[in-house]
Amino acid sequence: MTDAILSLTDARLTLTSHAGRVDILHGITLSVAAGETLALTGPSGSGKSSLLMLMGGLERATGGSVRALGADLSAMSEDALARFRRDHMGVVFQSFHLIPTLTAVENVAVPLELAGRVDAFDAAAAELEAVGLGHRMRHYPAELSGGEQQRVAVARAAAPRPEILLADEPTGNLDAANGAAVMELILGLRERHGSTLVLVTHAPELAARCDRVVRLSDGRVAGDETRDAAATGADMGGKAAVPRADLRGKAAATRAGLRGKAAE
Ligand SMILES: Nc1ncnc2c1ncn2[C@@H]1O[C@H](COP(=O)(O)OP(=O)(O)OP(=O)(O)O)[C@@H](O)[C@H]1O
Ligand SMILES: [Mg+2]
Repeated sequence: MTDAILSLTDARLTLTSHAGRVDILHGITLSVAAGETLALTGPSGSGKSSLLMLMGGLERATGGSVRALGADLSAMSEDALARFRRDHMGVVFQSFHLIPTLTAVENVAVPLELAGRVDAFDAAAAELEAVGLGHRMRHYPAELSGGEQQRVAVARAAAPRPEILLADEPTGNLDAANGAAVMELILGLRERHGSTLVLVTHAPELAARCDRVVRLSDGRVAGDETRDAAATGADMGGKAAVPRADLRGKAAATRAGLRGKAAE
C-alpha cells in the first residue's frame, strides 16, 4: 500500500437522528491510489454521499479509520480539517452548497482567494467559461437553474486544482452537452494535474471513463472492479470490467506515467 492517497479501514458511520439510531456504513475498507479515478455507484440510500463525506472529513467515522494523504482525519481538529480540505481537496456536494449572498464568479473565487491567489477572479471567470457559464458570472445562486448551480459548484471545486476531488453526482442535473463539458473539466484534472477523483455517479458514460467502479449496497462494498486502463482513455468506449488483480500492474504503470506528466 505504498501509493494510497485515501484509505479507509473498517470505517463505520452511525448517526442518531430524532427518528433514532441509524447504522449507515457498516465497515468500509477501501484504498484509492494516487491518480486513480473511482466511480462510486449503488442504489439510493446505499451510503454513497455518506462515504464521500467520510473521505472529505466532513463527517467523522464512528468506527475504524479514514486516512487521506497519510493523515488520520479522525485525529484532526475541525480547524485542521478545514485547512486540510482547503490545501488538498475539492468537494462537490449533491445539493451544491453555494453561498447564496455571493455571485457565481465570487463563489468560484472564494477558495482561490483563500489559497492566496492574486488572480482569483480571472481564474474563477475562466473556470466558469469552461463549464459554459460565461454569461451567468454575476448571477446569484437563486437566479440560476439547478444545472447551472451544479456547474458553478463543479467549477468552484475544480478551480484550485485539488490533489483529491470528491464529487457527488456532478452531472446529475445536466443535459448531454453540459454533462460532457463538466466531465471534461473533471477528468481533465486527472489528465493535466494528476488529481485523484472519487465521483458518485449514476451516469454510465462517466463511470465508463473511470479506472475503477465501486458499488455500494446497504452501507457495504458490494462490488469493486478495475477497468482495462486502455478502455478509460478519452477516445475509447468502456470495455467490460475485468477482475482487479489482473490489471494491477498495468494500472500502476498508467498512474506512474500520469504522475510523470503532472510533474512536467
Ligand atoms: N443525518 C442523518 N441521520 C440519519 N440517517 C441519515 C442521515 N443522513 C443520511 N441518513 C441515511 O443514511 C442512508 C444513506 O444515505 P446517503 O445520503 O449516504 O445515500 P446515497 O447512497 O447517497 O443516496 P442517494 O443516491 O439518494 O443520494 C440513507 O438511508 C439515509 O436515510
Ligand atoms: Mg447521495
